[in-house]
Amino acid sequence: MPSVYIKTFGCQMNDYDSGKMRAQLAADGFTPAESAGDADLVIVNTCSIREKPEQKLHSFLGTVLPQKKVRPVTVAIAGCVAQMAGKELYRKYPKVDLVFGPDAVHRIREMVEESKVRRVLDVDFFGEDTYPFPTDVDPDDQSVAGFVTIQKGCDNKCTFCIVPTTRGVEVSRPAADILEEVRRLVDRGVTELTLIGQNVNSYGLKANAAGAGEPTFSELLRRVHEVPGLDVLRYTTSHPRDMGDDVVACYRDLPKLADHLHLPVQSGSDRVLRRMKRFYTREVYLGLVERLRAARPSLVLTTDVIVGFPGESDEDFAETLSLLEIVRFQGSFSFMFSPRPGTPALRLMDDAVPDSVANTRLQAFQRAQRRIQVEEHKKLVGDTVRVLVDGPSAHDEGVMCGRTSGFKTVNFPASMDLTRGTWVDVRVGAAYANTLRGERV
Ligand code: SAM
Ligand code: SF4
Ligand code: F3S
Repeated sequence: MPSVYIKTFGCQMNDYDSGKMRAQLAADGFTPAESAGDADLVIVNTCSIREKPEQKLHSFLGTVLPQKKVRPVTVAIAGCVAQMAGKELYRKYPKVDLVFGPDAVHRIREMVEESKVRRVLDVDFFGEDTYPFPTDVDPDDQSVAGFVTIQKGCDNKCTFCIVPTTRGVEVSRPAADILEEVRRLVDRGVTELTLIGQNVNSYGLKANAAGAGEPTFSELLRRVHEVPGLDVLRYTTSHPRDMGDDVVACYRDLPKLADHLHLPVQSGSDRVLRRMKRFYTREVYLGLVERLRAARPSLVLTTDVIVGFPGESDEDFAETLSLLEIVRFQGSFSFMFSPRPGTPALRLMDDAVPDSVANTRLQAFQRAQRRIQVEEHKKLVGDTVRVLVDGPSAHDEGVMCGRTSGFKTVNFPASMDLTRGTWVDVRVGAAYANTLRGERV
């Protein structure tokens, strides 16, 4: 039996694509390999969102390609760096057998066959009407948490972002296909489902959407919510600009909709938001947060923030810190701005913020975020929370780990035969920045 090892960098889109590739290759007898050193086929699924993840491709290839001298191994570069710089990579690494972008994922089986006779390069985008969303479900994934893609690409043009270049135009997937995949996952034991896309709130709104009669995002949420056997429904990522009151109302009406929303704000300063072309203001964002909390008072909010965007002043950064204090996000991904090839923000680089300044701001943001997380988590001590069991803790023997609907990781002592996917009640005894700890009740 041939074996495959897929190294995945980047976001849920790449995780999802890697799962689809595993599923398709299983049809040709490929089994999962423990490590790149054991595999007959090694695929690196790359991310180009910032410079750092992009560099990981080169260090990974540095460990894999020398193996070709001692044994036959097929090596493929997939994902966003391949899409962005496929031709260069194809030339730079003559020992790499395949280079292909996200739109070629559904062709993985034929490309691997073809690579037996010649090298393969496929970085073409599909036309929007014909985009073939792969449907196979990863046979080796036993998780109770499942992911279903509802759209590909992104039609926004946030000035810092490479995604529109690497993933192409936004295409919504037909609702019937989404529902069919959801049902298949639920039948296999998935109880917590995340709908994924770069800009899920604009699902179904675009001219290039799946076709006439397709639902809007809020209608889609309502339809998926009806699927029997599903306990928790999540989605990511949301753009605040496209989040209408119909989606806000879902937080009032749909009990299975998770108590957690990831709503990237990027900056708390209107001046910076304008230069990022995010098309909302601080006031609009805060108004949205207020309406969401009116609809679902227990809602936990997390966000993404970029510090050191070109032209960001101390005052602008202070606005980001003050927004954090007002909203009290319970988690965030924060990054120093990283200039990406071909993005409009490159034209603003005359106003670049020195790395040392951006780094000091990042540390200050992360310190404040951590303090808020600890303060918010301490409020839960003494409460009983419902936890969906995920499995044994990676660090502590005799301890199980699970997640609340509000996306909190909870550790608790329990016998190891407690089945993954069951719900248990845990009384919170201790709170840390990233986890809660308690006893079953
Ligand atoms: N589609 C989502 C949105 O609109 O917020 C997120 C897309 S991106 C995969 C995830 C995060 O990476 C962004 O929210 C942003 O904070 C960060 N990011 C994107 N481009 C960046 C850049 N050039 N430098 C630093 N961070 C970046
Ligand atoms: Fe990038 Fe903006 Fe699209 Fe998100 S919405 S993927 S940040 S262009
Ligand atoms: Fe990275 Fe591509 Fe996702 S650039 S964040 S893997 S869409």
